Amino acid sequence: MDETIRVIAAGSAAGGTGQTSFAVNIAVELAKSGKKTVLVDADAAFGDGALFLHLQPHLTLKEAAERQDSSRIADYCLKHESGLFLLAAPVRPEFAELITADFFADAIDSLRQTFDVIVIDAGTGLHALSLPSFELADQIYAVTAPGLARMKNTKLFVDTMEALELKEKLALVSVEQKRKAFVKPAEAAVICAAERLVVLPNAADELAESMETGVPVVVSHPRGAYAGAIRSEIRHLFEPKPALPEKLRKWTKWKEMKRHEPARKAAVKESDI
Ligand SMILES: Nc1ncnc2c1ncn2[C@@H]1O[C@H](COP(=O)(O)OP(=O)(O)OP(=O)(O)O)[C@@H](O)[C@H]1O
Ligand SMILES: [Mg+2]
Repeated sequence: MDETIRVIAAGSAAGGTGQTSFAVNIAVELAKSGKKTVLVDADAAFGDGALFLHLQPHLTLKEAAERQDSSRIADYCLKHESGLFLLAAPVRPEFAELITADFFADAIDSLRQTFDVIVIDAGTGLHALSLPSFELADQIYAVTAPGLARMKNTKLFVDTMEALELKEKLALVSVEQKRKAFVKPAEAAVICAAERLVVLPNAADELAESMETGVPVVVSHPRGAYAGAIRSEIRHLFEPKPALPEKLRKWTKWKEMKRHEPARKAAVKESDI
């Protein structure tokens, strides 16, 4: 197992792309696999983590920040029946600005002492808590969805990660689309120049049911395609990666590029039509 993955952050350039669904299900699946996992809801103004898990937080990031209690932040985490812990976002948007980037970074650092893995729902856009989230993360996900504006903003988001020298840790996450007019995940990866792409199946029904029941899809439909994609991504994340000498690392990268070439060509061909 690759034990270097301790912090995972999922963000997006535009709202409603499915990033909370992705973060919740990745986190619950990690907890199911026996890793002590906490989901941190860093969507400080409009976080939905507690809603997705049907938890009613009496303590949130807001209370911890007010008391400057970063060293005891684990006491502010609520336990879900799946075994996952949640550090909830404040219950009202006006409390968001009480949580500073410095306090948040200290809190994440402190969570490392209690948890094996910390999954951060970094919310939408680039705000006070998303930048420390991405900087502290070992794996960043940029979740995107169809629509010209979303695609333009996702590209800007990925470009910004490159400017901040964070792009090496980034994978693009995109949901499969049935409608012909929509940008396909492989096309999105080419447009955004993302080095790695995670494709999620369309799971509208399972996710809608999950919102009603508070039972994450990886628990309610473990054999479904969405849960399968989540498990496959976790396997990828934690599979042992051999330390290669610099020369071989470039060779491996070249082979990776060649492996993605058919998807790139297909994407270009489709967009030509
Ligand atoms: N793989 C998927 N297939 C189909 N629908 C999805 C998928 N992922 C998410 N959705 C749906 O998209 C909507 C938004 O999902 P979610 O709340 O996870 O997105 P978000 O990016 O966190 O949104 P917000 O900007 O409100 O925080 C929900 O109705 C959800 O069920
Ligand atoms: Mg969300």
